[in-house]
Amino acid sequence: MAYLTLAVLGLCTIGQAIEPPNIVLFVVDDLGIGDVGSFGNDSLRTPYIDSICKNGVKLEHDLASAALCTPSRAAMMTSRYAVRSGMSHVIMSLMVANGLPRSEWTLPQMLKQEGYATALIGKWHLGWNRGMLDQYFNPINYGFNHFFGLPTGIIKDIGGKQEIIQELGGDAMLMKIMGICLITSGLMAYFLSKRIGITMALMSVGFIGTCFVMLKTNGITNATLVRNDRIIEMPANLTTITRRLIDEGQSFVKTQRAKREPFFLEMSWLHVHTFLHPQPPFKGSSKHGPYGDAVEETDWAIGQIMKTLEELGISDDTLIYFTSDHGGDKTEIDEKGRMVGGWNGIFRGGKIDGGQEGAIRVPTCIQWPSGLTKGKVISEPTSHMDLMPTIAAIVGTHMPKDRHIDGKSILPLLTGEEKRTPHDFFFHYKETELMAIRHRPREGDAVYKLHYVWPGWQPGTDTWPSLLSALKGKGTVLKPPRLFNVVADPKELNPLDTKVEPYAGIVKKIEEARLLHEESLVGSVPSIQPGLSQFFSLHRSVFVDYAWQYISDEMDKAWHAFNLY
Ligand SMILES: *[C@@H]1O[C@H](CO)[C@@H](O)[C@H](O)[C@H]1NC(C)=O
Ligand SMILES: *[C@@H]1O[C@H](CO)[C@@H](O)[C@H](O)[C@H]1NC(C)=O
Ligand SMILES: *[C@@H]1O[C@H](CO)[C@@H](O)[C@H](O)[C@H]1NC(C)=O
Repeated sequence: MAYLTLAVLGLCTIGQAIEPPNIVLFVVDDLGIGDVGSFGNDSLRTPYIDSICKNGVKLEHDLASAALCTPSRAAMMTSRYAVRSGMSHVIMSLMVANGLPRSEWTLPQMLKQEGYATALIGKWHLGWNRGMLDQYFNPINYGFNHFFGLPTGIIKDIGGKQEIIQELGGDAMLMKIMGICLITSGLMAYFLSKRIGITMALMSVGFIGTCFVMLKTNGITNATLVRNDRIIEMPANLTTITRRLIDEGQSFVKTQRAKREPFFLEMSWLHVHTFLHPQPPFKGSSKHGPYGDAVEETDWAIGQIMKTLEELGISDDTLIYFTSDHGGDKTEIDEKGRMVGGWNGIFRGGKIDGGQEGAIRVPTCIQWPSGLTKGKVISEPTSHMDLMPTIAAIVGTHMPKDRHIDGKSILPLLTGEEKRTPHDFFFHYKETELMAIRHRPREGDAVYKLHYVWPGWQPGTDTWPSLLSALKGKGTVLKPPRLFNVVADPKELNPLDTKVEPYAGIVKKIEEARLLHEESLVGSVPSIQPGLSQFFSLHRSVFVDYAWQYISDEMDKAWHAFNLY
């Protein structure tokens, strides 16, 4: 490894050996920028996150590259927009046979190559099975030595309320699917029994039963807890899960410390995505209901990992990157009418609204005592995708040169060597649709955003009526596109007159950047949309996976019993 970059930047005293820092990445699921003390919240308590911001660098204009978990996380892991890797759509179920292409070069792969031990604890959500029981998209195939967590993440149906099933049409929808399932299986049975005989006919009947079990119990949404390649619980015990994530993280750090090996630990928290499951003493303790409890519990959980770093005396040499995968979900309202999906502060819109500030502005802070001055605040626009190139610069390695990389190293910005973001343009997507483009001109303070599509919010609000409408809704195509200066007008209430200068020129520049960007997308992996056909790809079901694991374990036991006695 070359630590030339560090030396050049004068981050080290001459003569002192520079060790690559350990890296701890904290990603909170669906946390809004307005939920964090350091970002202006005065009623939620987030002391540990605040301490990262205070002792490190605070990024005030940091952007998730998408407003949904799967694409945002894919982009963070690869430093590429999810449209390049076919990951634009959220992976809805463990049965979707889609995931991050293995040809992508990921952050953990890069660090593993540089001699780091790597672990992912918590949520993955970048795919699971591709074929029969193959776990092709398991994170251990992407550079993580160790994985403990959920292949997808938590969703509100996991608490047993089946709300998403209700939103999709409830039991009536299930009955329809069952009907289709039954007719298909019946026809299959009829034709196959004529051609192949009774066995196939019986298998078809089995298929009907499995359809039912899958839909009603595990298939769509269940929480599956995995250690490396073993399913260890289904459904995962949510009472103990946060504690167990902390334990796993702490034990990984201690083991690596004992071996004196540098490590990369991603703690990808299951909270604060609904279903919310805060535990005592946090349950009922915040001023903001179960959501606030979950935020405060997650902050505490982050603190537990930080305490371990301190106890081991490695805090100074550890780079901590804290962020959320995208904005809070404003469509999440519980039965008492409480918002249970996060608060995006002054910004409009929320999760899913790809082009809106509330959807993609994330609370990000980076602490690295031995490398970065504390207390710095950066208001230049930056991106989650910058994480990987920045780390590459820190550990002295390169990003791949055989593909388009969208992130840039912001190390000079973090150290103060540069004052301006390395980015000129940012492209904001909702799934595969380009919603808006942000432009940071070389001169001046302005950051412009040109919207091509506006969300179909309920009149007088900045939210969709429901999660499903937000996902499915097309919004309004803006003709002409609408331009705002998000620095002067962060709520984006005053569109600028694009017929006059300088705004006409800004629009022209953005249009040129759009063409270049679109050209660069030629040859990208096409995005696979989740659909019902995917729910029915039975052989990819984790349910079968689990059943098979169970049967083979039982057979093993029987075999051992037989051998012993
Ligand atoms: C703090 O967060 C809570 C919960 O999301 C939210 O309701 C409240 O408005 C926030 N307060 C401020 C000052 O942003
Ligand atoms: C999850 O699985 C368990 C047992 O397999 C089942 O009892 C529960 O209803 C399932 N939950 C959902 C939301 O499907
Ligand atoms: C979860 O684990 C706790 C502690 O071990 C136990 O008391 C509880 O019954 C478990 N819950 C479920 C649903 O298994």
